[in-house]
Amino acid sequence: MTALRYPDGHVGHLVTGLQTARSVLADPRFSSLPAGKRSPVKVPGSELSTDALPAGMFVNMDPPEHTRYRRLLSKHFTIRRVRELRPRIQELTDRLLDEMANGDGGPVDLVRAFAKPLPTLVTSELLGLPETDRAEFGRHVDVLFSLSSSGEEMQQSMTTLGGMLHALIAAARKDPGPDILGRLTVETDLNDEELLGITIVLLIAGLETTTNMLALGTYALLRHPEQLAALRADWSLMDDAVEELLRYLSVVQIGPIRVAAEDFLFEGQSIRRGQVVTVSLPAANRDPLGFDDPDTFDIRRGTTRHVAFGSGPHQCMGHHLARLELAIGYESLLRRFPRLELAVPAQEVGTREMMVTYGVLKLPVRW
Ligand code: HEM
Repeated sequence: MTALRYPDGHVGHLVTGLQTARSVLADPRFSSLPAGKRSPVKVPGSELSTDALPAGMFVNMDPPEHTRYRRLLSKHFTIRRVRELRPRIQELTDRLLDEMANGDGGPVDLVRAFAKPLPTLVTSELLGLPETDRAEFGRHVDVLFSLSSSGEEMQQSMTTLGGMLHALIAAARKDPGPDILGRLTVETDLNDEELLGITIVLLIAGLETTTNMLALGTYALLRHPEQLAALRADWSLMDDAVEELLRYLSVVQIGPIRVAAEDFLFEGQSIRRGQVVTVSLPAANRDPLGFDDPDTFDIRRGTTRHVAFGSGPHQCMGHHLARLELAIGYESLLRRFPRLELAVPAQEVGTREMMVTYGVLKLPVRW
């Protein structure tokens, strides 16, 4: 852990080691509550007032409140439940690839044609969002994640999204479907504000991350032709390839962020109450003490020790789902287009720098 000066002058800490990252994320003395949290760099969304956050946004909570929400939700994200979704995810994937194939050899922006719509469709179905609302919905999520949105635009989109989601919750209460929202209205005593918060967390957590993994992962594979050839020659390497892409790319590039809830000594270092600690997942995932030759991309590495999904009580609840979407997404794309390649020189592919989630802005491909 090293001292880090935050943009407003606050002096906190930065964690770059794999073991320390795990220890911080498991330690209840490092709180997830929003009070006093600040980002180590200025990122879109940091202007959003935390007073406006609805109840139920459990990603910003500590136990026991956090545990209560997690318990109510976790049964919808078990490996068994997620496996049941496989045929439907495959169907949605194939439909998108069919449309892409109409593009006559490209070039096509893979982010627009595939990497973004796939997680949007999966999450929308999971939550029971009607097809007619999905486009508008996507537009507001875009505003929340765009570098060029002003604080005011973000607040506006948050309000509009809130209105749409309230309508969705009211509809689910009237006529509960088999989706998560429908089930939660029937099986729990969560109120509308709580359901709103949960829905927002699921949306924000599952869309950007998976989209960027799909696009950036494809870019990484195309830039490592020998690894791509090995994968094409043996699809049983796919699960290992997904793990390595998660580790090597670590798309959650800013945070998790925690705030010390008390004064204490941590790994011999004195921590003061209110000090902010940023865990760098990309650094932890390239820790030479955790991984041999960590900067090398090797789909045969065969380890799940990475922290791309975080660790501890807040570890990604959607990790089984994300892994499945990625495995189906990469394999179906690469099988459908055996000659997939970049349609621009690699150095012209722009990346998302100052955003919580790293990725490519566009990925022009042809086949
Ligand atoms: C490759 C894709 C994904 C990555 C890299 C990722 C990464 C992460 C990380 C690092 C955290 C920890 C945040 C923290 O400790 O403060 C997290 C939390 C979370 N993720 Fe994911 N995620 C992905 C996909 C998904 C999907 C598909 C869903 C579900 C729709 C999801 C739902 C959640 C939820 C609900 C949390 C909050 C858990 C809690 O606070 O208890 N994630 N994710």
